[in-house]
Amino acid sequence: MPYSLLLGHRAPHLGAFLTLALAAGLGRPAAAQTAPQLGKASLKEVLAALTPDEKVRLVIGVGFYPSGFPAGMLPPGPPGGDKQPEKVAGAAGRTHAVPRLGIPALTLSDGPAGVRIDPIRGKDSTKTYYATAFPVATLLASTWDTTMVRRVGVAFGSEVRDFGIDVLLAPGMNIHRNPLGGRNFEYYSEDPVVTGNIAAALVNGVESNGVGTSIKHFAVNNQEFNRMQLNSKVSERALREIYLRGFQLAVKKSQPWTVMSSYNKVNGTYTSQSPDLLTTLLRQEWGFKGLVMTDWYGGQDAVAQLKAGNDLLEPGTLMQYNAVTEALKNGQLTPAQLDQNVTRVLELVMKSPTFKGYKYSSQPALKANAAVARQAAAEGMVLLRNQGAALPLAAGRKVALFGNTSYNLIAGGTGSGDVNRAYTISIAQGLGQAGFVANPALSQLYAQYVKAEKAKITKPKGLLDPAPVIAEMPLAADQLQPAVAAADIAIITLGRSAGEGGDRQVQDDFTLTAAEQALLKQVSTAFHAQGKKVVVVLNVGGVTEVASWRDQADAILLAWQPGQEGGHAVGDVLSGKVNPSGKLATTFPVRYADVPFSGNFPGKLLDASAKGGGLMGAPSENTYEEGIYVGYRYYNTFKVKPAYEFGYGLSYTTFKYGPLTVVRSPNNDITARVSVTNAGKVAGKEVVQLYVSAPKGQLEKPESELKAFAKTNLLQPGQSQTLTFKLTATDLASFNTATSSWVADAGTYTVKVGASSQAIKGQVALQLPKAVVTEKSRPLLVPQQPLSDLRVGQVAK
Ligand code: BGC
Repeated sequence: MPYSLLLGHRAPHLGAFLTLALAAGLGRPAAAQTAPQLGKASLKEVLAALTPDEKVRLVIGVGFYPSGFPAGMLPPGPPGGDKQPEKVAGAAGRTHAVPRLGIPALTLSDGPAGVRIDPIRGKDSTKTYYATAFPVATLLASTWDTTMVRRVGVAFGSEVRDFGIDVLLAPGMNIHRNPLGGRNFEYYSEDPVVTGNIAAALVNGVESNGVGTSIKHFAVNNQEFNRMQLNSKVSERALREIYLRGFQLAVKKSQPWTVMSSYNKVNGTYTSQSPDLLTTLLRQEWGFKGLVMTDWYGGQDAVAQLKAGNDLLEPGTLMQYNAVTEALKNGQLTPAQLDQNVTRVLELVMKSPTFKGYKYSSQPALKANAAVARQAAAEGMVLLRNQGAALPLAAGRKVALFGNTSYNLIAGGTGSGDVNRAYTISIAQGLGQAGFVANPALSQLYAQYVKAEKAKITKPKGLLDPAPVIAEMPLAADQLQPAVAAADIAIITLGRSAGEGGDRQVQDDFTLTAAEQALLKQVSTAFHAQGKKVVVVLNVGGVTEVASWRDQADAILLAWQPGQEGGHAVGDVLSGKVNPSGKLATTFPVRYADVPFSGNFPGKLLDASAKGGGLMGAPSENTYEEGIYVGYRYYNTFKVKPAYEFGYGLSYTTFKYGPLTVVRSPNNDITARVSVTNAGKVAGKEVVQLYVSAPKGQLEKPESELKAFAKTNLLQPGQSQTLTFKLTATDLASFNTATSSWVADAGTYTVKVGASSQAIKGQVALQLPKAVVTEKSRPLLVPQQPLSDLRVGQVAK
């Protein structure tokens, strides 16, 4: 969607911009030679030397001037913003410089799967600026491997640094509330413990390079529909336990340099304008020490944003500049408040590589980083089905490759989560390099078809336009039969693309299209008739329907959107070079209607006659009626059988679990231990999950909840490893809205160790003799009307 539409709701205000000559009336700068310099003088002295106008500029970005956008399509930036030289072409945001005080401009860049900048600068194509496209966030979470994700972060952050960027606008870490969420591929999981731990690992890895991150979108931005005007109505308990907990964990475990507030409202207030969220919770209760920035053009009231603790308004507009300047003059914004926001900007500047004079090369270690991308991709793929040990493929097998995305891999999602990469390895290429021989006639047929179809498609113009989809090619019997006769096995790849700017659809997106169903049926019937097997590879960014068709496939590999090295990684897994060890961090339900309150997604327009949809649309709301029963918390508690449950994933080997032991110390430090043995014939890794079921106390509780997880090393056949999990009473607690406190009830807990949320391998009772209040708060982000969480026995509509 073009930005003019994206920003449509502001159109009435744009005409009202005042061209105030402000600087003159707002104080005179100190002479350059005597002016205190940032980093040398104290912050107090620097603050004192800044003019009010300079302070206003420091909390507002310079504006957004992306190449390819006609002038006037985007709101104008603050005066002179367009004159500030751009350091990295295609970076999403910049801050103002104040050279006379030694304050440089910072450069901020997307996004969650790799550095997103222009690969070519101007007309000069002799030098390129391609970045590594790592696997999408959903795949990274499916590794359940914080060491691996940290390694990705280290590689990723080195590109941030080497391209001259100060802050990476990632990771995204909203909860997968509904499979249709258009940006789910940028997010990790339906569970806050997975989300928080994986995000912290990525942040720690990226920031080890001396650059910053921005965990986003804080908070409750679980869909794209009307995202800039949507009010998410959520109970306080669901907020604390589900939607905020991951952020809380990430802050605790990684203290990211920045947080990005989200576009939406929560319980009536824009998150970017909520002191409850940005000051009381984030800073006072959780101890966040960094800066908060808005999402691009997010919120409505710049002054309220600054007061709420949103220190930097990105990308910065003239309207914001005028509003803040005016508020400073008329007293609506106190100098003390502005100083607080400016201080946080200056603290960020002082940490940045730009301030430290880092000499960046614009030549990151692309080769080494591609190797990391490939390894991570293989580690996060999930083997969903493997009947009759269809996989791994024996060396040298002749394969018939079906499906457009076998030849045209979808590396990642669209919008700001996309990455300008130098290449993408297709599955056909990856399998070829792994030593498999693809049926040449069939490959030729697809190559021609994909080329011809691509030529018909008009290239998306806007950053947020969805990627066009090429329908599956109908196969005539005389095209199919030679491939059946010549190949040992069929591989069908089915692909999905989604991204910023729109949510997915049930029909033909969550479910298979008619053409895909026909392809699957035709190929599986023909191959099975010859006693030959069929493997389906899912090249998708989010959850899709599998239950209705999975019986037609002998094996299903969920390859996700695996980044630029995806084809190699698929080759590694299908050949058995890498034994799959990924597990689902989000449930695959049998049908869309099984998702709680699925019919309410993505929400409703407040004025039904208004034109809704898209990014802006009109004021809308979405009530989170399922409360805390999100994902497996719902399916397992309400006994709704999923297609593949949370935590599920197969391996080419099998694992045996030893007895679980659980010890509680008098101060409620809990240690659980279990030994895992590779009982099969090939080396492999196992993801081990620790769940806890709570006693019947004052609050309704899910059947069980994930509290910790770990992944074994690569275990050789017969080899064992003991895994240790440490919990405290905090991990057992739930949020009691009546008392605004987190409480672990007294009673008997059941600690369970599982290979998934339903494959429980051992359990031990744990007594908590006395209830423990682990955190005390006060009512925050309270819904305008009371919202109750579902109760067991109640049925979700
Ligand atoms: C997205 C953010 C992104 C920003 C800058 C916004 O539209 O929601 O995730 O970081 O743009 O590109």
